[in-house]
Amino acid sequence: MSDSRVINFGAGPSALPDSVLDEAAKGLLNFKGTGIGIAEISHRSREFVEYLNELESLIRIQLDVPPTHKILFTQGGGTGQFSAVVLNLLARHRLLHPDLPNEGRTLDYVVTGSWSKKAVDEARRLGATVNIAADARKLSGSGKLFQEIPPHDAYTFSPDPVLIYYCENETVDGVQFSHKDSAPSSFPFHLLPKSTLLPLVADYSSSFMSRNIPRLADHAVIFAGAQKNIGPAGLTILIVRQDCIVDVDAAAKLGAIPVPITMSFKALADANSLYNTPSVLPIYIAGLVLQRSKELGGVQYYEELNRRKAQKLYDTLKEGEAKGVFRGKVKEGSGSWMNVVFDVLGEGAEARFLNGAEEQGLKGLKGHR
Ligand SMILES: Cc1ncc(COP(=O)(O)O)c(C=O)c1O
Repeated sequence: MSDSRVINFGAGPSALPDSVLDEAAKGLLNFKGTGIGIAEISHRSREFVEYLNELESLIRIQLDVPPTHKILFTQGGGTGQFSAVVLNLLARHRLLHPDLPNEGRTLDYVVTGSWSKKAVDEARRLGATVNIAADARKLSGSGKLFQEIPPHDAYTFSPDPVLIYYCENETVDGVQFSHKDSAPSSFPFHLLPKSTLLPLVADYSSSFMSRNIPRLADHAVIFAGAQKNIGPAGLTILIVRQDCIVDVDAAAKLGAIPVPITMSFKALADANSLYNTPSVLPIYIAGLVLQRSKELGGVQYYEELNRRKAQKLYDTLKEGEAKGVFRGKVKEGSGSWMNVVFDVLGEGAEARFLNGAEEQGLKGLKGHR
């Protein structure tokens, strides 16, 4: 691998292991001894279908996904799922409660940062009735900033919502739910309406496979784009509980919004994620990354590694705050393990910090615009 590579902190697309890229280069010429490169081979070939099944089991085993949930692969990114979860779960709700007026179909959103806010915007754009179950901005002095995960007493959930939505890690704002049940910044699972089939939806786009997913089995849908943690852009991973894979066309006949076929969880599930041509190259590279992850010890290995990295970084940030050179933007206890946001204080100091970092081969540190 070229020694001109730098340390790339880009949040996504983000760095991939050199060993994976070396292997991927071989696969581009010859995938699995077929004599055909991965970007050229039919997605319906035996070799590719086997590979896709292996990718499914690498995720299932490492995250301990139960048989109640399907793992699906699609395109359209996290943004595509902002729409798809609304449409599929509205269809489910319509089949469960065909006679309810539309105003009675409420979607609960927990807003902790700019990505969950975007998801709300899309739900509203699609005409859904939204209840903001909690809005972290209300906790900030200005009422505008996302600086913390709301405490448990700040949530109000609807009695029978179409979905309950949260973003586990807010990439831009650097805010993440704690995965310790007892922490005040954990997701308030105990406050959710009592039901065995909760329509709980989580955006794991920027923390997928970085540590365990608390209460995975209680989720209806978990989604993530590959490009932050497990591969190139172009692949979206879905973990969907089977009761959320519904006949969207039957629901449309009852008045639900028709679901575009590539967004239908059922169309995807019935075709084992091969309803149409999938993103073969990102699937291949994600498989290589997750095979490597398995060999290193799986998600538990990454959880421990990421815990130590976060500790080190937040300790340094604290030290810098005490010296007056940094200012953290997120309240203690709500800080992300994946994206740490802070200001560098002083006239021109941020530019000097970034230039200095670049000289050391550390790129992609500049925060979101
Ligand atoms: C938490 C989160 N959700 C959703 C998205 C949107 O993902 P995509 O660009 O794959 O549509 C991003 C992208 O950065 C993200 O960080």
